[in-house]
Amino acid sequence: SECYLNGTFQPLAQCQVSVLDRGFIFGDGVYEVIPVYGRRVFRVQEHLARLSRSLAAVGIKSPEQAGDWLSLVRELVARNAPDDQCVYIQVTRGVAKRDHAFPRGVEPTVFMMSFPFPHLQTEKRSQGLACITAPDLRWRNAHIKSISLLGNVLARQLSVENDAAETLLIRDGYLTEASASNVWIVRNGRLAAPPRDHDKLEGIRVGLLEELAAETGIALEFRPVAEWELRCADEILLTSATKEVVSVTTLDGRSVASGRPGTIGQSLYLAYQEAKR
Ligand code: PDD
Repeated sequence: SECYLNGTFQPLAQCQVSVLDRGFIFGDGVYEVIPVYGRRVFRVQEHLARLSRSLAAVGIKSPEQAGDWLSLVRELVARNAPDDQCVYIQVTRGVAKRDHAFPRGVEPTVFMMSFPFPHLQTEKRSQGLACITAPDLRWRNAHIKSISLLGNVLARQLSVENDAAETLLIRDGYLTEASASNVWIVRNGRLAAPPRDHDKLEGIRVGLLEELAAETGIALEFRPVAEWELRCADEILLTSATKEVVSVTTLDGRSVASGRPGTIGQSLYLAYQEAKR
């Protein structure tokens, strides 16, 4: 497939960056994952706005302007074959002699690639996912979409080792998010999600589900969600660029309510499919 590195489109297999890149040395960079359906980039303005916020939060001045990003993303999509893709964008602070402090006069490394959209198997979607919980041991700036993902990687691996699809993270008795998704619960017919704050990434699907819930008449509150509420929820949902909206049907080996995907998750999934058109 074709990728983009610092101004040039080229085959991914030949694309290389220096071992001194601060992304490699320090995890000093930010990223985005943007879904593309039928060659149309979904919610691209929201993703690019979040990229700008991440860059600003870590003090990286990317050479690309807001308008450039859009045409670069569109060109990348055009150069790659699948109708449904994911565009991955990564910007690091650049290549410099190893020193924790920001280097001077260094250009950021700008990298973009595309991969086929990893559609969830229909069977998995209709069964719902098995998930586990673990303590959220990550840093307190999880709202920045940073490439320093060791805490997320270790959390996700725990789920692999427990034959589960995701790890839901708990900090001080409250749900934050999952290793690579946002988490929602349904109790008494009402949808709830943890507050938007620095302990979690505000997914692009958070704003989208807020809109879809309003359109479909589902009550939604952003409020702290206690671990005990998670454990007796009527439904648990995950959202992310790649998972869209999916139900969690077992948590730590126990069924979530009936152990079948619930009706609110189903309504939001269908509304999401409509929004993609
Ligand atoms: N992950 N929280 C975390 C920690 C995430 O990594 C993600 C997305 C989300 C959901 O955000 P969005 O709705 O914008 O995808 C929440 C991406 C897909 C990834 O790292 O592959």
